[in-house]
Amino acid sequence: MRTIEWNNGTIAMIDQTLLPGEYKIIECGTVSSLCEAIVSLRVRGAPALGAAGGYGVALAAHTGAHAIAAATTTPANTMTTPLMFKHFMHALHAAAEMIKQTRPTAINLAWGVDRVMGAIMESGTRRIDEAKGIALNEAITIAEEDVQRNRRLGQNGAALFEDGDTVLTHCNAGRLACVDVGTAIGVIRAAVEAGKELSVISCETRPLNQGSRITTWELMQDQIPVTLITDSTAGSMMREGKIDRVIVGADRITRDAVFNKIGTYTHSVLAKEHSIPFYVAAPISTFDPVRMEQDIMIEERGPDELRRIGDVMLAPADAAVYNPAFDATPIANVTAVITEDGVMYPAKPDWWHGIMNS
Ligand code: MRU
Repeated sequence: MRTIEWNNGTIAMIDQTLLPGEYKIIECGTVSSLCEAIVSLRVRGAPALGAAGGYGVALAAHTGAHAIAAATTTPANTMTTPLMFKHFMHALHAAAEMIKQTRPTAINLAWGVDRVMGAIMESGTRRIDEAKGIALNEAITIAEEDVQRNRRLGQNGAALFEDGDTVLTHCNAGRLACVDVGTAIGVIRAAVEAGKELSVISCETRPLNQGSRITTWELMQDQIPVTLITDSTAGSMMREGKIDRVIVGADRITRDAVFNKIGTYTHSVLAKEHSIPFYVAAPISTFDPVRMEQDIMIEERGPDELRRIGDVMLAPADAAVYNPAFDATPIANVTAVITEDGVMYPAKPDWWHGIMNS
């Protein structure tokens, strides 16, 4: 199945916290269970979070409609009084805010929520059953578009790779970070499908190991050659000439910086030092055209992600910890940004204009 899907009144998703040991589908039937799934990273990765945000509003509309129908003993698909609609929209706005606040850095989450809320409000409907249908249609459209956009993005990026390249990636920007296909890994897949032989170096991506648990697993499933390294091995491999290109995804792209999993900035500096092309692959929905690096909040996660793995202590139980989930890479360190609409080169002074107009 896809990473995240609508399933008859619930949101079904692959529980990514269990991979690669267990492949399990879970269902979120309430907004609070969806929020728990997002905070716990059962669903993660910027484009997948965009779909989760969209489906989350559809779920809130679905459950809200049922609650109002039950409370008023009026079937939701018949008459909606103005007061019922007011209560319905009030609850929907509250759910939308709750979902958006789960993870602040990936812009796609808020984008998905706002897009579905916008579709309801722009429709001008005053009927609960209609609003419920509009929300679900828009959420499904977001998910479908994600798959199509990633395919186009992959094809646009594939041309940048040469037969025989060894490509380093960080975190997981594969199909599990999206509805399907993937961004950075989607580009690698497209290059391989075009007949190029690539091998991938997957950084483990401490502390939650999205690289070792998810990217390495995904690539092995596709039989694309992949070697797992610790994050700190990247520098010496670059110095030894063992890396031809770096490609990563993004959680948000402002005019001056790319926000992505912590450790991305380090790879970008190392790539620059060793004259290795550094690519960022992201759909247009990841761009934040009105903000700059200083405006963005970087999510800080709990100390136990560093202090322990399950029951095994990796540090003293009360060790002071600093655990930001993301970092900012100055745009000057990025060779090219690959999108579904084409490849942009930040070294060009007008690189940003295509985004402002799209
Ligand atoms: O904390 P995560 O696992 O959600 O972080 C994910 C990343 O940093 C990805 O690289 C990014 O979202 C791009 S996914 C196409």
